[in-house]
Amino acid sequence: MTSTLFNTPVNRQGTSSLKWDKYKDRDILPMWVADMDFQSPPEIIKALNERVAHGVFGYTSPPDSLEEVVVERLNNLYDWPIEKEWLDWTPGLVCALNISVRAFAEENECVIVPCPVYYPFLTAPPLAKRQMLQIFWRRQGDTWELDWDWLEKNVTRDTRLFLLCNPQNPNGRVLTRAELVRLECFCKKHHLVVCSDEVHCDLILDKNCQHIPYASISDYARENSITLMSPSKTFNVAGLGCAYAVIPNPELREKFRKTRQGIVPSPDSMIFGFTAAEAAYRSGEPWRQSLLEHLRQNHDYLLEHINAIPGLSMTPHQATYLAWVECDLPGIKNPDSFFEQHGIGLTGGAPFGDPNCVRLNFGCTFNLLKEGVERIKKAVATLT
Ligand SMILES: Cc1ncc(COP(=O)(O)O)c(C=O)c1O
Repeated sequence: MTSTLFNTPVNRQGTSSLKWDKYKDRDILPMWVADMDFQSPPEIIKALNERVAHGVFGYTSPPDSLEEVVVERLNNLYDWPIEKEWLDWTPGLVCALNISVRAFAEENECVIVPCPVYYPFLTAPPLAKRQMLQIFWRRQGDTWELDWDWLEKNVTRDTRLFLLCNPQNPNGRVLTRAELVRLECFCKKHHLVVCSDEVHCDLILDKNCQHIPYASISDYARENSITLMSPSKTFNVAGLGCAYAVIPNPELREKFRKTRQGIVPSPDSMIFGFTAAEAAYRSGEPWRQSLLEHLRQNHDYLLEHINAIPGLSMTPHQATYLAWVECDLPGIKNPDSFFEQHGIGLTGGAPFGDPNCVRLNFGCTFNLLKEGVERIKKAVATLT
């Protein structure tokens, strides 16, 4: 099942695809923005077709049946009992990150952001005139770690919020229970709220890892956190705009709702997002398991070949379909521009906090990945 389903190319040219249109009519493989080149599960396509056939597209509200399946799923997959009332639906996660910064820190108060990280984490505090303390993931052999002692020394009294990305985009780390407990102790000591973006939680590649929602680890974590999730990455429905925040504490929930009011669209325009989300969560599990097998194969191939290229290096990624590749190439200051000139369109690391890295999206057919790797090898070979 895996090979045909995920190795049959789908032509995305002429479909207003952000990913493919960037390099329209140019021989550059688009391996950048985080969507995959696969059709969504057939169950989603069927549900959307049925909704379209109904033909009335007025305002909507989150279906009870969808909220029930979310509650069930978080309990079954992540051992996290939640209540329907804790859910708040948004058209995306990035707006929820920005709402959180505005809701849980006042102007000039400080927000902690571990980085390199998906760049909207780094723009959210300054956009809202909040201060930002960046803590850098440090590479330790084959993994990445946070330096909690450094953070303890540098945290300021006016810090209010910790923006967590777990699983981490771009280094693919899945935080262990011990790391989450460490985070919780730190946040408890400094009275911080955690906004935990867990959009990649269904995409765990390393079979020895398990996603643990931060909010599930203790009463303190539950009462002082907001968790962001969505079917968008897992089921490749990012263009349908459907995400949710889980906010157990009614005071925090109220703050979040007040802050979004009149600015971020309420869920009444999310018909197709809701339809897709419910179909994904009710019937998409076999598809997700096949997807994971495909991504694991792509990941393993990439890991082996990237690490064999002089000047390039990546750690094994525990999750996501995004590889963070460190580049130490003679005379090359902007590795993303260099690779683009050689026919591979990657995401540059600078907006994430490290200009010496590139991010490669391996949510594609194996053939496309192989071609991308060949082009990378040839590009690097021109430097010797
Ligand atoms: C960690 C993370 N959060 C949020 C998003 C985007 O969320 P949305 O498109 O729902 O705003 C991405 C997309 O790659 C992501 O990796």
